[in-house]
Amino acid sequence: MPLELTANPLLCERTTLRLGGPAVVEAVVREASDLDELSAFLTRETLPPFVIGAGSNLLAGDDPLELALVRVADCPGPERVERDGSAIIVRCGAGLRLPGVLGWAQKAGFSGLEGMTGIPGTVGGAVAMNAGSYGVEIGDLVTRVRIWSPSGGLAWLDRNRCIFDYRHFSPVQMPGKCLVWEVELALRESDPKAVRQSMHDVYEKKKAAQPVTARTAGCVFKNPPEESAGRLLDQAGMKGVRLGHMAFSDVHANFLVNLGGGKAADALELMAMGRERVMDQFGITLEPEVIVL
Ligand code: EPU
Repeated sequence: MPLELTANPLLCERTTLRLGGPAVVEAVVREASDLDELSAFLTRETLPPFVIGAGSNLLAGDDPLELALVRVADCPGPERVERDGSAIIVRCGAGLRLPGVLGWAQKAGFSGLEGMTGIPGTVGGAVAMNAGSYGVEIGDLVTRVRIWSPSGGLAWLDRNRCIFDYRHFSPVQMPGKCLVWEVELALRESDPKAVRQSMHDVYEKKKAAQPVTARTAGCVFKNPPEESAGRLLDQAGMKGVRLGHMAFSDVHANFLVNLGGGKAADALELMAMGRERVMDQFGITLEPEVIVL
C-alpha cells in the first residue's frame, strides 16, 4: 500500500486533550515496506517531522503548525514469540493501543503490564516516553526495541543499548527523527483471573485519584525529585482553577481538562500560572511532562 497522506490534519482530532490546529500534512505508515516511501517523503518535505502516537501526551497550539505528522497505523498483534526462562516474550507493533495489549495479555494470562491499566497511548508512544504508572514503567519490561530513522533504516536495539529514565527513552531523543517501529516485552505466565483482578484494582485506584474519563493529556508536569507535582499544584491553590474552557482538574491538580471548546492558549496560560505559583510558594521549578507543540 502507498503511504497514506492527509493534508491539513487537525491536531484537535488526534489528541486526547482535543486541542490544536492543523499541521501541514500527515503520513500514515502501515507496513515496513512503507518506510522507504516515508524516507523519500521526509526528504521531499522541508518541514520538520513529528511522530505522533495516540496523542495522549500532547498539547498542540491553536495556530497552524509547520509540521509533517508521521503516524504508525494500528496493526495486528501482539504476538507471543518465545519463552526465555520464566519469561514470555511478546512482540507488539508500535501502532497497537496499550489498552488492547493489556486486554490481550489478560486473556492469555500474561502478567507485567497491569500497573499500566488506564493509560490510553500507543505502544510506540509509551516506549518513546517510557510511560508508566503504579510501579510499572514500560521500559522495565522491554527486552529489545526496533527503531527506524531515515538515515539508519530499521534496526533492533537490545535492552543494553536502551536507556529508560523517568518518562524518557534514549536514543529516541528527537521525536520525528527516529520512530519506534516495534518492541518486545518480557511478561510472566500467570492466571488470567489474577491478571484481571489486578487490572481492576489499578483502575479503581486510578479512578479515585485521577480524572480518567475527562479530556486530558495525563499529568501535565513531571514530578520533581522526591516531590509530587499534583500535591504542589494543589497546595498552591491550582485545583479547579479555570480559564475559558480549560481547567486544572478538581480531582487531581496535575491534570488539565478540556471542558469542551477549550483553547491551547488558555491551557498554556494555566500551565504558566501553575509554574509561577509553585515557584513562588515552594521555590521548585515544574518541568512539563506533556509535549508542547
Ligand atoms: N496529591 C494531592 N493533590 C492532588 C494530587 C495529588 O495532594 O491534586 C497527592 C496525593 O494525595 C498523593 C501524592 O500527591 O499523596 C501523589 O499523587 P498520586 O498518587 O496521584 O501520584 P502522582 O505522583 O500525582 C504519578 C504519575 C502518574 C501515575 C501515578 C500513579 C507523574 C507526573 N505522575 O502521579 O502518571 O499515573 O503516579 O502511578 O509521574 C502521567 O504520567 O501522565 C501520569 C498520570
